[in-house]
Amino acid sequence: MKTIIVSNRLPVKITESDDKIELKQSEGGLATGLGSIYRQGNNMWLGWSGIEVESESKQEEIKDRLQEINLFPVFLTQEEINLYYEGFSNETLWPVFHYHPTYAHYEQSYWDSYLAVNHKFKEAVLEIAEPGDIIWIHDYQLLLLAGLIRAEQPDITIGFFLHIPFPSYELFRLIPWRAELLENMLGADLIGFHTFDDARHFISSITRLLPLHASANQINYNDRQVIVEAFPMGIDEKKYESLTHDRLVLENVSKLKENFQDLKMILSIDRLDYSKGILQRLQAYDILLQKNPEYHERVVLYMIVVPSRDTVPQYKELRDEIDKLVGNINSRYRTLDWNPIHYYYRSFETEMLSALYNMAEICLVTPMRDGMNLVSKEYVASRTDNTGVLILSEMAGAAKELIDAIIVNPNNVGELYRAMIEAINMPLEEQLRRMVPMREVVAKFNVRHWVKIYMDRLDEVKQLQASMQAK
Ligand code: G6P
Repeated sequence: MKTIIVSNRLPVKITESDDKIELKQSEGGLATGLGSIYRQGNNMWLGWSGIEVESESKQEEIKDRLQEINLFPVFLTQEEINLYYEGFSNETLWPVFHYHPTYAHYEQSYWDSYLAVNHKFKEAVLEIAEPGDIIWIHDYQLLLLAGLIRAEQPDITIGFFLHIPFPSYELFRLIPWRAELLENMLGADLIGFHTFDDARHFISSITRLLPLHASANQINYNDRQVIVEAFPMGIDEKKYESLTHDRLVLENVSKLKENFQDLKMILSIDRLDYSKGILQRLQAYDILLQKNPEYHERVVLYMIVVPSRDTVPQYKELRDEIDKLVGNINSRYRTLDWNPIHYYYRSFETEMLSALYNMAEICLVTPMRDGMNLVSKEYVASRTDNTGVLILSEMAGAAKELIDAIIVNPNNVGELYRAMIEAINMPLEEQLRRMVPMREVVAKFNVRHWVKIYMDRLDEVKQLQASMQAK
């Protein structure tokens, strides 16, 4: 018996230079969390290779290299990348699920490709799955996969986890293929979300769009009991704690200290995405500088935006708008010795991120919508001296757990501004009073705990189904 993890992307970055294939392990939360599972025995992780590879011999070569580390690649053509990944996943599902319906495109060709690629993943899973195996599917790119596998393997164990918010029924109903999406999600035995509200929205869409009833969090579908539940994902807190003693991190910290002497650092780290509230954050910082000249040369906003999906038009536009606003703010307030914003459009090594988490007195995490948001948890885990202030959007899943942060409505720029003032002036005693319980939450509900309770629950669901069938 083995476990097969399935997600759109594999937990490695594959690059090809001078005809040589290079693999780089991903540092992402999911990769870390599931590392303990897929590396064991003959367990596997199946997903898109992340690059377009046309030649079959190259595909075979990549497949062999990946198999050594229990990974199994699915190859996508350029057309599939355009229609399934950029199209249906990121121009239809992503905007609707993040409450941006005006950004959504409903294109038949996107849907056709989404269905075809989910079938492609199904074929790949069935190629390696054997009776008794557990399949754990992740995220919105693969909403149909559980149903497609179930149609061919009625008794197989399937878990599904959604890492982004599940929207209210009023949003979800907009999608032309809403019934097909729900029916296929119900192919799983256990459907997990980050928050109770996401689970509630999902059940409400099920009961209003399909001829089905739910009894609390249980749905009977084709004589099979499906359980819907919240499992808030955690991080590897020990990794972030021990990074604070790492030699490279300490070197980075001392360089940062030299450069930002006497400045209060406000840190902001996101993937480029309109769901992250980056522009509103900049507007609030602009107000702070406008209204409080006494903070000039006393604060700095260190803003990292990690490039993402920049072939999708809205992402390109957002990037241009950020460039403009940062330029505008810096040009108005900068002095000979001070830049109000240090903006980086690129990804950083974990050792640099850890140094920044250590350095920053304030961390600003203000998404418009976010399934969980792990940056907020990484910041907390890195504050080993219990100081620091987290400003956190109430629209992030993490706000349900990190209730001692300064919680803000990210649409309210005035509130963001006031939260920054409060954070800058927060007495040490209050920082400790807030940070200590948040650190306890992050340590207790870590990613190992998340994997364990999900897997235990999946096992219980299968036992429940067996006992119902025996009756
Ligand atoms: C979010 C999604 C993930 C996705 C990640 C990066 O966290 O929930 O499924 O992998 O963004 O996006 P990308 O499109 O680069 O895979």
